[in-house]
Amino acid sequence: MEIIILPDSQKASRLCAEVIDRAIRAKPDLVLGLATGSTPVPMYRDLIRRHREEGLDFSKVRSFNLDEYLGLPPDHPASYRRFMDEQLFDHINIPKSSTRLPDGMTKDIAAHCAAYEAEIRAAGGIDIQVLGIGSDGHIGFNEPSSSLASRTRMQTLTLQTRQDNSRFFDKLEDVPFGCLTMGIGTILESRMTVLLAFGEGKSDAIAGAIEGPVTAMNPASALQLHPDTRVFLDEAAAGKLKLRSYYRESFERSPYWQSFKI
Ligand code: F6R
Repeated sequence: MEIIILPDSQKASRLCAEVIDRAIRAKPDLVLGLATGSTPVPMYRDLIRRHREEGLDFSKVRSFNLDEYLGLPPDHPASYRRFMDEQLFDHINIPKSSTRLPDGMTKDIAAHCAAYEAEIRAAGGIDIQVLGIGSDGHIGFNEPSSSLASRTRMQTLTLQTRQDNSRFFDKLEDVPFGCLTMGIGTILESRMTVLLAFGEGKSDAIAGAIEGPVTAMNPASALQLHPDTRVFLDEAAAGKLKLRSYYRESFERSPYWQSFKI
């Protein structure tokens, strides 16, 4: 794992956006895996700026989102389809037909999840998967105890996740109990994963994911098994990492990262 600790979330988000920018310019039909939630929003804003000001072209990019709430139609204000349209897709030149999310209204969950996996494979697999992390260590909506080999499927959300996400709804009771999510096995097959985490509230989950054992009780720890995971942190999210100064030094000495604008 490559651990990148920057003074604030803006700088970390910009650096992550630059990784994606370079990848799209190198491979215009890049397949992006995308996440929702508050964490990637500043990174998406920087991608929008790069599209508007620096000609970053998304016309051939394809995307697959990690997850969607079960029972929410695409036009529901708290659906992840709506979130992605508002936070990213409506502001760049990606054709909407190239953007995929699981369908929370599907009548046949098993068939839909299998078809989602088949679509990812048919697109050539995910080149870069963007991830946030839950305060319980979830990635996608793979809650603690998820199989590390899991595939796209239905998951029941923990009470902690429903409470964390209730800010997007009028009240806790409105947060769905279920979701469809890519599995941990699905995520591990992407060629690169970029995990973003900001704020003290993520520091325990991050310490467990990076320095704890690989365990289904912290699903993000499965990324230790991935050959190219880059973790972008602000100081607060990195606050409980024992090897903080080593990660800083590795980053500062890396010829690869020196070529980036930070
Ligand atoms: C969202 C997702 C989740 C979030 C996580 C963190 O598509 O898959 O794993 O990344 O719940 O959410 P925020 O960023 O709102 O703290």
